[in-house]
Amino acid sequence: MALAAALPAQLGGQEHAIDAKGTPWWKNAVFYELYPRSFADSNNNGIGDLNGVTAKLDYLKDLGVDAIWITPCFPSPQVDFGYDISDYENIDPMYGSLQDFDRLLAEANKRGIRILLDFVTNHTSDHHKWFQDSKSSRTSAYRDWYIWRDGRRPGQPPNNWISTFGLSAWTFDPTTQQYYYHYFYPEQPDLNWRNPAVEAAMFDVTRFWYKRGVAGFRLDAVDSLFEDPKLTDNSFAAGTDTFGRRNMDERYNQKLPEVHGVLRGLRKVADEYSAVLIGETYTSSIDELKHYYGDHSSELQLPMDMMFATVDKLSAPEFRKQIASVNSSGGWPVFLIGNHDMPRSYNRYGDGLHDDAIAKLMAALYLTLRGSPILYYGEEIGMQNNDPKSKEDVRDPQGKIGWPTEKGRDGERTPMQWTADVNGGFSKTKPWLPVAPSAATHNVATESADPASILNFYKRLLKLRHDEKALLEGEYIPLDENNPNVLSFLRRYKNEAVLVVLNMSATTQRVTLDLVPQGFAGGSHTMLLTNGGEATRSQGRDIDVEPFTAYIERQTK
Ligand code: GLC
Repeated sequence: MALAAALPAQLGGQEHAIDAKGTPWWKNAVFYELYPRSFADSNNNGIGDLNGVTAKLDYLKDLGVDAIWITPCFPSPQVDFGYDISDYENIDPMYGSLQDFDRLLAEANKRGIRILLDFVTNHTSDHHKWFQDSKSSRTSAYRDWYIWRDGRRPGQPPNNWISTFGLSAWTFDPTTQQYYYHYFYPEQPDLNWRNPAVEAAMFDVTRFWYKRGVAGFRLDAVDSLFEDPKLTDNSFAAGTDTFGRRNMDERYNQKLPEVHGVLRGLRKVADEYSAVLIGETYTSSIDELKHYYGDHSSELQLPMDMMFATVDKLSAPEFRKQIASVNSSGGWPVFLIGNHDMPRSYNRYGDGLHDDAIAKLMAALYLTLRGSPILYYGEEIGMQNNDPKSKEDVRDPQGKIGWPTEKGRDGERTPMQWTADVNGGFSKTKPWLPVAPSAATHNVATESADPASILNFYKRLLKLRHDEKALLEGEYIPLDENNPNVLSFLRRYKNEAVLVVLNMSATTQRVTLDLVPQGFAGGSHTMLLTNGGEATRSQGRDIDVEPFTAYIERQTK
């Protein structure tokens, strides 16, 4: 607690956790995911760093961000670019030092921005001292901290499980003549969460950071924490994956019920510090997602709705269905449209002709919904994927293993585009990944000066989101529910409401919205924002909305 006390202004602890009305801070917060390798390079070595982030805090504040989630910046051999941690309680020298981190935290807190870290729960790096000891002999103190088994027969792994990154899930260790299990790369051995010592050590890691003033964690890969102790073979499912392998029904190594016990434990520790837990929860049904909130909200406050995030077409019915579904869970929704593992939303939803308008339309969707949004860095300027052109250029091992069908995740992790200058203003040296050609037009400097830019639309939208009670706390009421092209909804709060109309089609659409049942028939309406397209009210209830137009209006009684 010494450090927390030394940082009275820090926002990780109790004092600022709940507002005057009793709403926890994270319900009204806009989160921003930031990939530190690619955000801002303060020492010009081609790789981003924490001092770079600190230098950009005013930009984030001005954008309207309340909390930053920094992907792993701990010491790591960087096989999976930080998701292979070799020391949980330090900062990788490539990114700076603990002092740099404390300074970032203090400067962020001064601006009312909270910091969340990324906690890789499922596995460590093979360079972590726990694993180094574990593999040193069958009787080592840490042997049981990982999952070691004999092969089924000489030369054959213990069972048929496969790594999600394209290889076997088992690696043979010649020294101790056993296999260890890794759901990801061989350099990322899975921890054995059935061992209470692992649980205790990992819970302590979170305390270490909470005491420094961290406001919470994004929990990595929680679906994978437990495996069937009998190592039962998985059965195969229809189709093949991007590595060309038969799909597997991962019943025995994904989402085992024991995961929830660990989440309840992590939540108890988080509650001692009023911290928030965001989960990387890849669920395939709303029941699974619901489970991650826990009974009486005893697990994750913010499990990500990846079903919404992975809707891959601009489809009003698809989004309407996913929103209804997450709202039926009873939990507080978490909306995102991109992250460091999936192609950028600009490419996934763009049609090649109206991409900027569509980028704004998508922003108007997920930033006006009831729930906590998570932006992915660069989304606010319309950054595009920049996939490697040849196998030699690939940095992400996933792309090296799966080339050319699986190009890996480099494309969505390219340097932030700050200016139209060399290297997008990210660094004075050649960056670790090439800056996307779109930096010439889509960058912070150019867009800041253009009132019609994606960036300025994000800023206006986030300001609206912070100012309008209805957008923060209002209930979500779907309207015109059978419309195949236009997604319309109301966010209603007492005598006010915000109407959102999103034309997801390439033709002008007339919508007829009946607000009588919602009690807003006779009142007044004021246009708050459009993404540039026109929306014209004709007789009373009719609104004509141009292609890919987002129209936002305030209703009063
Ligand atoms: C999560 C991360 C991903 C990483 C993997 C293994 O899915 O988001 O980037 O490669 O876990 O840690």
